Amino acid sequence: MNKKAIIANFKMNKTNTEVQEYLKDLIPMVQGKDALIGVVPSFVCVNTAAQTVKDANILIGAQNMNENDSGAYTGEVSANMLVDAGAKIVILGHSERRAIYGETDQVINQKLLKALKVNLISVLCIGESLMERNSDKTTEVLDRQLSLALKDVYANEFKNIIIAYEPVWAIGTGKVPTDEQIKDAMATIRSTIERLYSKETALNTTILYGGSVNEKNASQIANIEGVDGSLVGGASLDTGKFTTIINSFVR
Ligand code: PGA
Repeated sequence: MNKKAIIANFKMNKTNTEVQEYLKDLIPMVQGKDALIGVVPSFVCVNTAAQTVKDANILIGAQNMNENDSGAYTGEVSANMLVDAGAKIVILGHSERRAIYGETDQVINQKLLKALKVNLISVLCIGESLMERNSDKTTEVLDRQLSLALKDVYANEFKNIIIAYEPVWAIGTGKVPTDEQIKDAMATIRSTIERLYSKETALNTTILYGGSVNEKNASQIANIEGVDGSLVGGASLDTGKFTTIINSFVR
């Protein structure tokens, strides 16, 4: 896996037709870029999106998946279904999943273990709320979320793991942490991985920053020590803006 990664999280935006148009636009723009470029549309678009990108330098992903193999889980999608549909990536533990749908660290851990079994590249999202930030709990929260999500994960499975640091208060708000705050969070995440695994694993892990990244602030964020790329929501919906963001990280 490329150490650098820039991943678009469409959330509940864009129809199948719109995703195809988007990808046709994006494919020539990212040709030859030395980075993992991911596009993560809604479940119903994954299959056609995967067919549209074929041999292009873009991996398609899903925004969530169920931790069970199959069964009576109305409305849910399994890891095997994602792989069969052509997904290569899955986003797990996004703060919107945690906050709106009540996903716990334990469930996220189960999902991660399942995704790793089928070789999906898992983008594990962690991040503190504003209240946690204001009460100096950021380090503790990141360490706890990581440790619980990574339970029973082996070091050799890190080849398929990406960590996304996304402060809850920065998502969709236009608020971005200071360079120092992002740098500190990256260091915290690496030190937790080092404690749980090894220095080598910590150094080799791709860690993204996400939360209000746009075409204007991307190059500054790309320069922060420890940041290997970005998970982009709102600004990724436009191919022009997303390409500018990609180019800020891949020079
Ligand atoms: P945003 O979302 O870029 O719209 O803030 C990022 C995310 O939720 O992954």
